[in-house]
Amino acid sequence: MRFRAVKGMNDILPDEMQRWHRLERAFRRTVELYGYQEVRVPIVESTDLFVRSMGESTDVVSKEMYSFDRHSESLALRPEGTAGVVRAYVEHSTHAHEPVTRWYYLGPMFRAERPQRGRYRQFYQAGCELLGDGGPASDAEMIEMLCEFLRRLGIGELEVRVNCMGGPETRERYRQVLVDYFRPRAAALSGHARERVERNPLRILDSKDPRDIEASREAPRLLDHLAESDREHWLGLRSALDAFGMPYVVDPLLVRGLDYYTRTLFEVCSTSGAIGSQNALIGGGRYDTLVAQLGGPATPAIGFAMGLERLLLVMPDAVEVAPPLCFIAPVGPQAVRFGLLLARELRSLGVRAELDARGRSMKAMLRRADSMRARMCMVLGDAELARSVVAVKDLERHTQQDVAADQAARFVAELLERSEDPPTDAQGGRP
Ligand code: HAM
Repeated sequence: MRFRAVKGMNDILPDEMQRWHRLERAFRRTVELYGYQEVRVPIVESTDLFVRSMGESTDVVSKEMYSFDRHSESLALRPEGTAGVVRAYVEHSTHAHEPVTRWYYLGPMFRAERPQRGRYRQFYQAGCELLGDGGPASDAEMIEMLCEFLRRLGIGELEVRVNCMGGPETRERYRQVLVDYFRPRAAALSGHARERVERNPLRILDSKDPRDIEASREAPRLLDHLAESDREHWLGLRSALDAFGMPYVVDPLLVRGLDYYTRTLFEVCSTSGAIGSQNALIGGGRYDTLVAQLGGPATPAIGFAMGLERLLLVMPDAVEVAPPLCFIAPVGPQAVRFGLLLARELRSLGVRAELDARGRSMKAMLRRADSMRARMCMVLGDAELARSVVAVKDLERHTQQDVAADQAARFVAELLERSEDPPTDAQGGRP
C-alpha cells in the first residue's frame, strides 16, 4: 500500500527549503525593524472562535473549515491567523501591559478549497497584527512596510490596492443602499449572489461570477457613502500614503471575504501573470470591533497576511550558495571512528561536513564526493592511517596534500575561510 499526501496539501522537500528560508528570513528581518515581535498560537482553536470572528456566512467559515468534534468540543484547524492572535491578546490581557501591541506570526493554515496553482488546502501564511492604534498613519506605515519587504526580495510587477469600507455606521447605511440597488436586479445575479441580496449584499461585489460582475458594474460606491469620521480616516490614510510617494490604486470594488473588517482594506496583487487568477499575494485591513467582539476592551486594530507559496511563485531566484562541503572518505572501521571525530571537529569550526560510513570502496566514495559537489575531500585510507595523516583533496583546484591527522580539521577550515567570497545580498545573505 502506497500513500499519497492529502489532496491540496504539499510536501516541501529540502531542495526547495533555501527559498522558503530566504523568504521567511526577509519577512522576520523586515517586520522586526518595524517593532513586531513573534507570537505562536495553536493551530487548533474552538470552531466558534472562527465563526464569531470571520462570520458565519463567509465562504471560509461555511464551506472551507476543517472542523471536528472531540470530547464534546467542536474544534477547527485554523483557516487564518487573526482570530487566534486576537483570542490570545484578549486572553492574556495584553492591553493592560502595553498600549500598542505589534505581533507577527508564521505558520500553516487550512482551507478546504478547490486546489489549483497558488491555492492549496494547507498553505503557509506570514502575517502581522497591530493592536491599539486606530490612526490612519499606522495603516499607511503597514502598507509601506509591505512594499519595503517585497522590494527587498526583488518582487516587482505589483499593484497595491486600497479601499475604505467604513465602520458599523457606514456599513449599515451602505448595506441598505446596496439592497435597494440589487433587489430589482436579482434575476440577473448568480444563484449564490441572489441568496445574499438581503443578508450580505457587500459580498456580491466580491463575486468572480461574470453575471455578478456585470450586475455590479453600476453599483453605488461605498466611498461615496462614508460617515464623517470614516471619511476623515480615509483621507488621512491617503495623504500619508501620498507622503511616502508610493504608487497605489484606489479600488472601490475591493471587498475582502471576511466579516471582521472595518475602514481600511488593502491587497497587494501580482500583475506578472505567474500565478494566474490567484493573484492576491497579501491581504489585510482594519478590524476595529473584533477585540471587543471577542470579549476584550474596545481596541482598534489592523493587520495583514501573505501567502508564502504565492510569494515563492513570483520571487526571483537569487544565486544561492550553499556553504562548501567537506566530504570524509574512510576505509575500514578504525578510519570510520576517526572520521566521526574529524567530522565533529570540522563542524565545531563551522565547516559543513559529511562522512560516508557505509564501508564502500575509495573509488565509489570519491565519485559520491564529486556528485555532491563537495569542495574538499578528506581521505582516510590504510596508508594514511599508518602514517597518522589525512590526505586532503581540494576538488575545485585539483590539488592534494597530506596533513598531520591532529591538524587536518583546522587546516581545512582555514583553507575554506581564505577562499570564501564575502557574502552579498544576491547570495542569500542579508535581504
Ligand atoms: P486572506 O485574504 O484570506 O486574509 O488571506 C491572506 C493571503 O493568504 C492571501 O492573499 C493569499 O496570499 C493567501 N491565501 C489565502 N488562501 C489561500 C489558499 N487556499 N492557498 C494559498 N494561499 C492562500 C486573511 O487570512 C486575514 N487573516 C488577513 C488579515 C490579517 N487581516 C487582518 N489581519
